[in-house]
Amino acid sequence: MNQYVRIIGTGSSAPDRVLTNADLEKMVDTSDEWITERSGIKERRIAPPDKVGSDYACEASLIAMKVAGVTAEGLDMIILATVTPDVPLPSTACILQDRLGAKNAAVMDIVAACSGFIYGISIARSLIMIGQVKTVLVIGVELLSRITDWSDRYTCVLFGDGAGAAVLQGSDRPGGVLNTYLKSDGSLAHLLHIPFGGTKVPLNAQNVCDGHRYVQMEGQDVFKSAVKAMGEAAAKILQRSNVSSKDISLMIPHQANIRIIEATAKRIKLPMEKVYVNIQRYGNTSAASIPIALDEAVREGRIKSGDKILLVAFGAGFTWGSALIEW
Ligand code: ACO
Repeated sequence: MNQYVRIIGTGSSAPDRVLTNADLEKMVDTSDEWITERSGIKERRIAPPDKVGSDYACEASLIAMKVAGVTAEGLDMIILATVTPDVPLPSTACILQDRLGAKNAAVMDIVAACSGFIYGISIARSLIMIGQVKTVLVIGVELLSRITDWSDRYTCVLFGDGAGAAVLQGSDRPGGVLNTYLKSDGSLAHLLHIPFGGTKVPLNAQNVCDGHRYVQMEGQDVFKSAVKAMGEAAAKILQRSNVSSKDISLMIPHQANIRIIEATAKRIKLPMEKVYVNIQRYGNTSAASIPIALDEAVREGRIKSGDKILLVAFGAGFTWGSALIEW
């Protein structure tokens, strides 16, 4: 049994190619001004056709494992969060396991959209705490550019590609992942979904060119639900953990829209100086957004030992959740 679960290494990776708002102005009827004002996004990374998610997941994982001082054979488990797997079968976690040589690990993908990394952390923490595993690699990776309709100005300005990873390990040292909070509401699935391409409506010669194989979103409804759910997730975990927002050194929210992030901070009365924001450089990378931001915050020295960090996310499903970490 391990009483505590600590994050002992983080890493991230993103494609080199940058797609700016100016580039998008040439592709659809939009403007840098509209995108910046409505979402806070200035640019995003887009993977070239010969790359797959496991390429970036592998790079991010190797960095996290090096920082953690953990070898591939030392991993007991790999949990990979994605809605854009390399292939429908098997899991991207299996592909990554092989690439890393993590032959002792049990591995799985989880599908919780933008909340996937927090779901992954929560599952890893539970399995470590009951003593089933000791060291777990948790990854969020997405190539959202592959499921984006590049002729739909409403969605194509929002999304980007990338990966982030964290190594979690059981420890006797107090602190680490103190608590997690997970929620879902499948009754609102239709507000943010991909209607075709599953077993319900398989792709065929007739529908393959149809926009229904891409992400479709009722933006305003999603926006309202995201503000409510992220605020709730942030407030609930503080309340349940008996921690005040004054004790939080840094909140790392899912990076979907700067206005959603600001509303979440306001809900728990946290000043924006204590909120990590990199949406301007990556856009919305779904499951990858929090681990990329966490890794950047660590590298920039924004997180010190003993700091209390709040992670909070919302995504398709709907799913939402939060995690409280003492670094
Ligand atoms: N450029 C210019 N104009 C645009 C664009 C664009 N790219 N897209 C829409 N517009 C227009 C609309 O057509 C509309 O015009 P109209 O008034 O003439 O009809 C106008 O801009 C305003 O549209 P709204 O929908 O009111 O814009 P809003 O302020 O709601 O912003 C946005 C839209 C950015 C999509 C916002 O609703 C949002 O962020 N929603 C949440 C998205 C999200 O958080 N997703 C999270 C999960 S993602 C995942 O799980 C993968």
